[in-house]
Amino acid sequence: MAGSLRLGSQAPDFTADSNVGKIGFHNYIEGSWAILFSHPQDFTPVCTTELGAFAKLEPEFTKRGVKLLGLSADTTESHGTWIKDIAEVTGGNVQFPIIADPDRVVANKYDMIDYQDPTNIDRSSLPLTIRSVFIIDPKKIIRIIISYPASTGRNATEILRVVDSLQASDKYKIATPIDWVPGQDVIVANSVKADEAKQLFPDLRIIKPYLRYTALPQA
Ligand code: BEZ
Repeated sequence: MAGSLRLGSQAPDFTADSNVGKIGFHNYIEGSWAILFSHPQDFTPVCTTELGAFAKLEPEFTKRGVKLLGLSADTTESHGTWIKDIAEVTGGNVQFPIIADPDRVVANKYDMIDYQDPTNIDRSSLPLTIRSVFIIDPKKIIRIIISYPASTGRNATEILRVVDSLQASDKYKIATPIDWVPGQDVIVANSVKADEAKQLFPDLRIIKPYLRYTALPQA
């Protein structure tokens, strides 16, 4: 079990079956951003709504150079049938891979198993995989880890928002404030000295020496 995956860790490689065939993870994501997000089980209500939402938002992730990969602790055959249900119920057409992880091999590698909830057990008495989100950059470095319990569905728009924040902070020397969405002002990174800040960001607004806002060029 990985156990020690942190922001800044190399994303572990794995090979696994999926609804689109065998996936070598590192090969598949080569040169792209990637989001690996896990699900406890196929044919479950919250997961069905989540996958439909991710499927509908996939073009937005693609625009940002992000490949989506779901993972669910069931087989490829099961995923295939479930994907038809997801389309019927949500109108979302899942085209990205859903990793088949019935034995929790990838879930253990990515520490996607919780241990606090003893009722969190699936049909075959294995611990359920929780709802984890790993955002991985083109250097295969883990940049964001988010974990939710089975009872709480994620917010696909929020995950898109944090991709925008990561990509903006990689491009410019900035950070993004609370509830930021693209188009709003950002915070100049504290590592940028006062003179450089004025040069880099002509519309700099200094609220405090440590809190300096600027607009970003519109994409
Ligand atoms: C769900 O997706 O609805 C779910 C999955 C596993 C346990 C509980 C709920």
